[in-house]
Amino acid sequence: MASKSFYITTPIYYPSAKLHIGHAYCTTIADAMARFKRLAGYDVFFLTGSDEHGQKIQQAAEKEGVTPIEYVNKIVAGFQALWKRLHISNDDFLRTSEPRHHRVVQEFFRRAKAKGDVYKGEYTGLYCTPCESYWTELQLDENGCCPDCHRPVQQVSEEAYFFKLSNYADRLLKHIEENPDFIQPVSRRNEMISFIKQGLDDLCISRTSFDWGIPVPDDEKHVIYVWFDALTNYVTAAGFFDDPEKFKKFWPADVHLVGKEIVRFHSIIWPAILMSLDLPLPKQIYGHGWLIVDGDKMSKSKGNVVDPNLLIDEFGADAIRYFLLREIALGQDGNFSRDALIGRINADLANDLGNLLHRTLNMIAKFQDGVIEAATTKNETDDALIGDAWEMVSGYEAGMEKMAISPVIRRLWTFIGRANKYIDETAPWALAKDPTKKAELATVMYNLAESLRVISILISPFMPETAPKIWAQLGMTKDFASVRLDDVKNGWGGLPAGQHIGEAEPLFPRIETEKEETPAKPEKTKTAPKQEKKTETAESGVITIDEFKRTELRVAEVTAAERVPKTDKLMKLTLTLGDETREVVSGIADTYTAEELVGKHVILVANLKPAKLRGIVSHGMVLAASDGEKLRLIETDMPAGSVVR
Ligand code: MSP
Repeated sequence: MASKSFYITTPIYYPSAKLHIGHAYCTTIADAMARFKRLAGYDVFFLTGSDEHGQKIQQAAEKEGVTPIEYVNKIVAGFQALWKRLHISNDDFLRTSEPRHHRVVQEFFRRAKAKGDVYKGEYTGLYCTPCESYWTELQLDENGCCPDCHRPVQQVSEEAYFFKLSNYADRLLKHIEENPDFIQPVSRRNEMISFIKQGLDDLCISRTSFDWGIPVPDDEKHVIYVWFDALTNYVTAAGFFDDPEKFKKFWPADVHLVGKEIVRFHSIIWPAILMSLDLPLPKQIYGHGWLIVDGDKMSKSKGNVVDPNLLIDEFGADAIRYFLLREIALGQDGNFSRDALIGRINADLANDLGNLLHRTLNMIAKFQDGVIEAATTKNETDDALIGDAWEMVSGYEAGMEKMAISPVIRRLWTFIGRANKYIDETAPWALAKDPTKKAELATVMYNLAESLRVISILISPFMPETAPKIWAQLGMTKDFASVRLDDVKNGWGGLPAGQHIGEAEPLFPRIETEKEETPAKPEKTKTAPKQEKKTETAESGVITIDEFKRTELRVAEVTAAERVPKTDKLMKLTLTLGDETREVVSGIADTYTAEELVGKHVILVANLKPAKLRGIVSHGMVLAASDGEKLRLIETDMPAGSVVR
């Protein structure tokens, strides 16, 4: 049986500037989709590349005193190195300067001309060199400049070839209307429909004012307009000329993933060219939003361009990938900020995921000599965990098929939270103390390890470096590269019982921020991180549920207390969270005696940055209520270690 195929592309990037985090965002989304489809058993072809021709490149090369190809070679090598570091699993990298591409572009030009869709005329228009785009008077911004980059446009008049785009307006409109998935999300689809309804002008597809491009066949003083050249890359790489079998398998592409400002080129010009050649149209153009930085569009002049290489150096590729995929709803603009990235790393990766792995492996090592024993018992708590896992797994595939990446990740993390809660509910440290509970303990440990096996598989499209690490730490011997979604869908219990866990290794160390430490007073709360000062929520003093969720609140039992000498209020508390002991300094000594405190179950802010108070490091803060005079600890009868939500 022929396997299902999936062809996804990113835009090919201009080698005119260094790639920034926005480009990395687009490529990471495509990579996550490609990896998901491979996991789901598809034969995947994932393409990215570089769009190397045009006047701007020629001018930049001249300025540096090198040839255009020398100029782009260096930059493109940088793109390829970045994609490698970001674990981008592209199957091909197409450079428009390659001979394999030239042949296809010239053939496309020839065939469109033979069809009567290309004619020679005189072009007079307003051209933006940096954007390689012509604009009409009406489209210019309020200063008469390019509506995209706001730089001056030039009046250009030259002999040129035209493509009869106007011939295809009706067919295009019909296609878009009959195929609701062709342009996504819906907002972009609607924009394109109204754009076409305003009428389409023929498109100028050649230039004579520079020569860094693909020559027009039989009229070499013209080079082919960069967009006609660039868009064709998608069929070159699919094997249009070189590999008819491959072309049959992968064309039409399943998704062209592009930024919102180039949806127009992909959903109007590109389909019209394909219609002219009687080739099938791509199944979907997906226009994602832009990544802005601290609320602002990235630009060299603002000095806020974020270099993905530096972020990878500092935080590692998987943390960046996780942040981009989790934080931004596909299709909408999203904000990047360093503080938000660190917040996610600490809360979701170091804390939620890291703790689940760490606690599970620790307990298997401590209570079962490192062996994951079979689960032979089952109670309601176990059923609830397994039930939640199944619900999550079934939503995962459907969500990813719709490219609902961020919601899928959020659901996955709800399950991780559920598994952490399962530890608190089952209190394995208590089971371990009771020799009659050996079977129950084995079940809990097995279920936790199995949860982590499932998690490692499902996070692999997003965090391809972390997933096999978890796999190895669980002692799995099957080659992770051969793992498929079926290894999860086939049922709970895919983890072989009786295996020894692998070597434990922390996944994501907590990132300490450089902010000034403040004493851990119970009645004070921390202010919002600096970068959020402009957000609506911060201005109104309201926080979102996601901001709240970054605070890890746990029930802790006070096992010892002593006054800090030479202070009025400070008390040193020793707390247990079930599987962990903490020391916390709290300003409650004028309300409670040490004896009164021992045995209390209090609420601990567990992921607060440690602070030094009178030479003692406080690892968290206990919550208390105050009416301005009296101060009382918040108490609960829940077991130590319970998660407060
Ligand atoms: N070369 C053309 C594409 C030709 S595809 C046949 C091009 N190149 S580009 O380098 O300028 O942009 C490539 C992609 O990066 C676009 O999809 C664009 O939307 C995306 N991004 C550029 N800045 C971005 C952000 N700040 N955020 C998200 N994506 C961004 O256009």
